[in-house]
Amino acid sequence: MIEDREPIRVALLGCGTVGTEVVRLLQEHPTEYAARTGAPVRVTGVAVRRPHKHPDVPEQLLTTDAAALVEGSADVIVELIGGIEPARSLLLAALRAGKSVVTANKALLAEHGSELYAAADANGVDIYFEAAVAGAIPLLRPLRESLAGDRINRVTGIVNGTSNYILSAMDSTGAGYEETLEEANRLGYAEADPTADVDGFDAASKAAILASLAFHTRVGAGDVHREGISGIGAGDIEAARSLNRTVKLLAICERVIDEDGTESVSARVHPAMIPRDHPLAGVGGAFNAVFVEAESAGQLMFYGQGAGGAPTASAVLGDLVAAARNVVVSGKGPRESAHAQLPARAMDWTPTRYHISLDVADRPGVLSQVAATFNEHDVSISVVRQQGRGADASLVVVTHTAADSALRATVEQIARLSSVNEVASVMRVEGEQS
Ligand code: NDP
Ligand code: HSE
Repeated sequence: MIEDREPIRVALLGCGTVGTEVVRLLQEHPTEYAARTGAPVRVTGVAVRRPHKHPDVPEQLLTTDAAALVEGSADVIVELIGGIEPARSLLLAALRAGKSVVTANKALLAEHGSELYAAADANGVDIYFEAAVAGAIPLLRPLRESLAGDRINRVTGIVNGTSNYILSAMDSTGAGYEETLEEANRLGYAEADPTADVDGFDAASKAAILASLAFHTRVGAGDVHREGISGIGAGDIEAARSLNRTVKLLAICERVIDEDGTESVSARVHPAMIPRDHPLAGVGGAFNAVFVEAESAGQLMFYGQGAGGAPTASAVLGDLVAAARNVVVSGKGPRESAHAQLPARAMDWTPTRYHISLDVADRPGVLSQVAATFNEHDVSISVVRQQGRGADASLVVVTHTAADSALRATVEQIARLSSVNEVASVMRVEGEQS
């Protein structure tokens, strides 16, 4: 009988938005977790900062001493505190003590993933982290395992629910930035410090994890170019709409191959205009979606809830069952795969496309002056649209692909032209043929 087997002891570090749901589900469905694991799964302790805030957790399980819980008898440690310290030290101590680890902590993995993988490997235990990217969506296991026989060329994702919630509301209802951020906070999507969401830090950590798995290369948070959404205004949303596009905060991880065949990895997070018929354009609210392009599999789309207590707990519990099952059968999950070690490509040399909206004087020669600036920087123009407005005109230019530094330099020079009153909007364009 499974119930008679030696239980798998689980210690939880953190019991907030996600941890509360993990505890609830473990308490509600013990028989199912036992059947799936091959042994009863027993929570032996829950570390928090303020025990009085957790009336739903049995009192005898609560402790403020996370380090003692890690040193104790648990077989698996589930870390749901977030941030770098004390999470890093606690997880290293757990792994070194031969305990498997489940974590949802993208910031920690993006900064110290290699150290954690090495400790797991050296001690023959597991580190699972499905919830760290795109919440409930089974994404990392497919990248790590199902696609291990393929060659991934590009991963493009909406991986931050909070910023997608804000951009979607700005696009569909014209709602303001602050009010939608407050609502995202209330719904439990936003990080403790929401600047991590709106300034792109959260998505950059996730991009580092995705790029590492997709390209079998160590990519850290510092390798990811990052821009957030706090500078996006109604004018940018409107500019996109007028071209039948929408604005999304994208995490883009791609294999870039130079003419001489040299490969590198570009990982970046920034807002971008995408066509309204692109599969990612319809991803609204706090939903996440990740679009994977692989050599043999072709295009794959992963879609679902990327944040929130219960959805994230689903991914954490999937990992917990996997780690616990490995304890039962003395098995081991996948190790880090970083054999390719491709160099990181700087944003300056990453090929991108720009949409530039200008407010210019409506007089002869302005268009040729602007066009000459593009030419000077070897940037080719794909679309030009001009509309007169009395003495002034609005000029929209969409470029072909060029090095990002060349595009930036072009915009800077255009802004200095005497015929240009204002650079009204500049945004990268993704998801269409260059
Ligand atoms: P919360 O802020 O809601 O919860 C954090 C928990 O950690 C709280 O229970 C807090 O205790 C506890 N805690 C903080 N510091 C310590 C400490 N030093 N020792 C012991 N306990 C401590 O975080 P979330 O549940 O939202 O997130 C947890 C992790 O999951 C993070 O890594 C996050 O990035 C990730 N994640 C979150 C998602 C979400 O939608 N919320 C989605 C995907 C991933 P107390 O309650 O007493 O204050
Ligand atoms: N704050 C994150 C988001 C939670 O908004 O997507 C999920 O990682």
